Amino acid sequence: MTLSLTIRRPDDWHLHLRDGAILHSVLPETARHFERAIIMPNLVPPVVTAAQAAAYKSRIMDALPRGMSFTPLMTLYLTEETDPNDVAAAHADGLINAVKLYPAGATTNSASGVTNFNKVRGTLEKMAEIDLPLCVHGEVTDPDVDIFDREAVFIDRVLDPIRRATPGLRVVMEHITTSNGVEYALSQGSDLAATITTHHLVINRNHILVGGIKPHYYCLPVAKREEHRLALRRAAVSGDKSFFLGTDSAPHTDPNKESACGCAGCFTATNTMSILAHVFEEEGALEQLEAFASLNGPAFYGLPVNETKLTLTKGEATNYPDKIDTPDGPVTVFDPGFPLYWNVT
Ligand code: DOR
Ligand code: ZN
Repeated sequence: MTLSLTIRRPDDWHLHLRDGAILHSVLPETARHFERAIIMPNLVPPVVTAAQAAAYKSRIMDALPRGMSFTPLMTLYLTEETDPNDVAAAHADGLINAVKLYPAGATTNSASGVTNFNKVRGTLEKMAEIDLPLCVHGEVTDPDVDIFDREAVFIDRVLDPIRRATPGLRVVMEHITTSNGVEYALSQGSDLAATITTHHLVINRNHILVGGIKPHYYCLPVAKREEHRLALRRAAVSGDKSFFLGTDSAPHTDPNKESACGCAGCFTATNTMSILAHVFEEEGALEQLEAFASLNGPAFYGLPVNETKLTLTKGEATNYPDKIDTPDGPVTVFDPGFPLYWNVT
């Protein structure tokens, strides 16, 4: 039995750090284990210009506790007003590593997102030209489409047409939740990749709804049927370069989650690496954890892998905190529903 696993320090290719006081509380939870993260721009107001991304990056670095090493990889929030030249300048300055597409209304703070995809064609073409990846929240918002079908429909109606119209555009399907997402990623070339969250490897839709509603398991895209969770597990542990970790760790305070209209998001930054080691061991694929968490992401983004290492050791069950305190209120840490024996040492 393997009792210890050393991998290159991981990166998180999809993270919500928020802003202001709560940023100071949630950032160390990621920086403790991760060297870099792709930072989501869905603040209020969203990070739409290069100047806003530069200012947000400074606030993140100011919030980083002394002695911790962490590099935020910034993104711009794509709107129908985005100036392709501003995007190109931010990329040329090394300020951003991706642009994020939210269909308007798809998720938290996505109101400024895209409704008419023809209006962002110029920016997408510029991105293909300068080889800047597009991160996509892959759900349609059409009220006639069932929430459990929104990812599959998005692939057919939006994603595939955008990619055909913009050859050379490199795309990350963020937080895929279905076998449809897995199959689409596998059927395409190296210009398409997909991130998978920690929580979607652990929960299916029963976890949210059986025996009473569990708001801390509610996120978007919502967890699907068990068959989809199993497809995500197979993809994550396969070692295939198309798949890498994007936790989508998304802190909301308990009052905002435990509400008649609760916010979407699971906060997994604190215990993600322990959960992943558990999942990969369960799948008999511990040797693939490094590819998923530390190698495939940098390869897609054209960045060097981290030189520092992280060691996980199996031992006594770890007691992670149920919640972390923030100045805005408590944030519940994702409960995988099983004891965690892998510790980051
Ligand atoms: O569950 C989610 N929470 N999904 C998203 O796409 C956004 C995120 C958030 O910002 O809270
Ligand atoms: Zn997200």
